[in-house]
Amino acid sequence: MRSVFDYLKAQNTRFIRDLCDYVSIPSVSAQPSHASDMQRAAEWIRDHARGIGLEADLHVTPGNPIMVARTPRKAGKGRPHYLVYGHYDVQPPEPFELWKTPPFEPTQRGRSLFGRGASDNKGQHVAHLNAVEAYLKTGTELPCDLTFLIEGEEEIGSNHLAAFLKAKKKELKCDGVVISDTGIPSLKQPALTCALRGIVAFELKVLGPNRDLHSGLFGGSVDNPAMVLCQLLAQLRDDVGHITIPGFYDEVVDLTPTERRGLARLPFDAKKEAKFLGVPKLMGEKGFTALEQRGTRPTLEINGLTSGYQGAGSKTIIPSWASAKVTCRLVPDQKPEVVRKRILKHLSDICPATVKLQITPAHGGEPYLVSPDSNQAKAALRALRIAFGHEPVLLREGGSIPIVNDFKRILGVDTLLLGLALPDDNAHSPNEKFDLDCFAKGMKMGALLWQELGSI
Ligand code: BES
Ligand code: ZN
Repeated sequence: MRSVFDYLKAQNTRFIRDLCDYVSIPSVSAQPSHASDMQRAAEWIRDHARGIGLEADLHVTPGNPIMVARTPRKAGKGRPHYLVYGHYDVQPPEPFELWKTPPFEPTQRGRSLFGRGASDNKGQHVAHLNAVEAYLKTGTELPCDLTFLIEGEEEIGSNHLAAFLKAKKKELKCDGVVISDTGIPSLKQPALTCALRGIVAFELKVLGPNRDLHSGLFGGSVDNPAMVLCQLLAQLRDDVGHITIPGFYDEVVDLTPTERRGLARLPFDAKKEAKFLGVPKLMGEKGFTALEQRGTRPTLEINGLTSGYQGAGSKTIIPSWASAKVTCRLVPDQKPEVVRKRILKHLSDICPATVKLQITPAHGGEPYLVSPDSNQAKAALRALRIAFGHEPVLLREGGSIPIVNDFKRILGVDTLLLGLALPDDNAHSPNEKFDLDCFAKGMKMGALLWQELGSI
């Protein structure tokens, strides 16, 4: 292993350069104008995988290509097989004006590499590829067979990956999945994430008059879609974040006292957090700590709200329509389809007769919960402990990676969530960055992981 670690150290500057190359491709899956960049990013990661000695190909889907890369197999050796999952797509970078340096011109400042996708998720899966490169280039035997599965639609719901898993079930048969696409509280608290929230997304459109109207001539007699939308949305939640949709919490599983104690052990300072986020005060459902609210309670969020005139000055109109993009985070045992039905029914029940309501369902994914007591989890904890030099913590995280449930359902395996993102990495925000010490520790953890998983 010495030569693997030496290689990782010696190649560090080049690894950062390569990551900059990758981050400079604007692979924004949500925006159709970036279709050719999706292809470019897929080809970049395929060529990179080939360059380090993997057998790599792109698989065409009705959406973005899926990159599959395999480490060289040793004939006659029944080694454990793990899938390493990541995504080359990134979230939209807007608003551009808030970036200190342009999102797709990766820039190093101190120990941080700034750029959209640096942390979520390009830097994190490249760390794993670098670890494997170190094995292959130093002629060190990899104790496991690995298949990298890097897709381009994670940020829009992984719409085509489940079908791919089904079609390639035989080749992808494995002992487990490893994903670095979650977070750690700090470099001194490496983490194994045991739970992710699920998600259900939809768009709401309130349709009013067949054109924008003069608000003086018509106001008061024709309903205002923007106002109706606000009133509808405002009725879905009380002022501390408790969702008021009938049946919304029906399937929510209460935390056990042990789980609560575990979460309470993680350091969290509400005042510091509020300052860091620039809010006067945190909010939250009564009876739950902030970490419980984030990791173990469902939410309903407005992600985007559009209506009426947005240009300079004022325009006195009743807008013809108003729309909102909404997502709910879900927790065990909520099911996206069941929750969606309840929300839609409730909205139709409370919508006034003066407007029409159009609801367009979008993506969804179930919540995930896995035991930290398995042999694989223990092996991962050992790798984290050695690589970071600190005792790892167990997390329940608020974000979603919908495909982990498909790995379980289709391939029958659990996922080890071994994230490398720091809380101030600005995922989905302007000035996203990846910490280069996390990058280096992540490569080391990746290298150690195959030793630990190979010997259980
Ligand atoms: N890397 C995140 C998920 C994440 C981040 C989980 C931090 C836990 C902690 C992932 O890329 C992501 O953002 N997923 C989307 C999925 C959605 C669009 C279906 C999310 O959570 O919003
Ligand atoms: Zn993300």
